[in-house]
Amino acid sequence: MKILITGGKGMLGRTLQRRLSEHELVIADLPEWDITDDGDFTAKTLEAKPDVIVHCAAMTKVDDCETKRDLAFKLNEEGTRNVAMAAKLAGARLIAISTDYVFSGEPPQEPWAWSESDIPRPRTVYGASKAAGEQMIQMIHPDNSVILRIAWLYGEGGPSFIHTMAKLGRQEGAPLKVVNDQRGNPTSTDTVADVIRFLLTKPDVSGIVHGTCEDQCTWYELTLELFRLLGLKREVLPCTTEEFPRPAPRPRNSALKKSVLNLLGYRTPRWQDALADFVRSGAENL
Ligand SMILES: NC(=O)c1ccc[n+]([C@@H]2O[C@H](COP(=O)([O-])OP(=O)(O)OC[C@H]3O[C@@H](n4cnc5c(N)ncnc54)[C@H](OP(=O)(O)O)[C@@H]3O)[C@@H](O)[C@H]2O)c1
Repeated sequence: MKILITGGKGMLGRTLQRRLSEHELVIADLPEWDITDDGDFTAKTLEAKPDVIVHCAAMTKVDDCETKRDLAFKLNEEGTRNVAMAAKLAGARLIAISTDYVFSGEPPQEPWAWSESDIPRPRTVYGASKAAGEQMIQMIHPDNSVILRIAWLYGEGGPSFIHTMAKLGRQEGAPLKVVNDQRGNPTSTDTVADVIRFLLTKPDVSGIVHGTCEDQCTWYELTLELFRLLGLKREVLPCTTEEFPRPAPRPRNSALKKSVLNLLGYRTPRWQDALADFVRSGAENL
């Protein structure tokens, strides 16, 4: 199969290069490929003739999106529109990566996880621009596309929360305070690559699919587990969101329910097992 990966040099893209290597890959990333350059991106895609496009390119820095709204929408909405249009013209299936941030993160009750059929209500510019990108795909290429929502991502080379905490955990100093009132599904890029490999075997699946690891935790609980796996002894203390104000409001609960994958008979690993695999793989100098 010929697979074109937008943002193929990014954190997820690098894992996909490794995990999809039996396929013919086209790495579509800056500076040669620019998803915001409509005509050029379409021309190059038509020339490459991919069977599948995996769309990872995005403006991913959540806080930067708050202050650079136009740029966020240019990349995450218009760029995604261009990719959807190019996929349609090329007759390619589109697997587009989206995010838990399309939801408000304010669950109506606890325990909670957002389902594929829940209505997006983003509270950040990043979430709104990604939700707008999802709408573009649903308008332009609905019959042959998957919107794959993921969250709390880490993978080889980072950057990610896991990389930051591993570095801090090795430094001496006062106890680390970590937020304990935000819940989500930590998810490795290897888990996402496995979901994409599964979706490649299901050409008839289209629509929204949630693809995070199973089980949920807080950032504090994730840090405790990471430090346990790495044998790090620095003390970690739970704290509240109010103690760490950020430009973009963080979701209180953004865990995702994997209803579609489960219906298809597929289960993602528990986040604890995926994290242990990542640490054990040694690929990472954490
Ligand atoms: N990271 C997370 O925690 C997370 C969580 C949920 C969902 N996601 C989604 O997962 C996907 C992959 O995330 P990631 O963490 O792998 O992102 P990433 O590391 O930031 O990679 C994105 C890649 O896209 C490239 N890019 C940026 N603008 C482009 C353009 N105009 N044309 C072509 N390529 C462009 C970037 O290049 P430069 O580096 O040169 O800008 C980078 O190589 C994104 O869609 C993101 O929204 C991520």
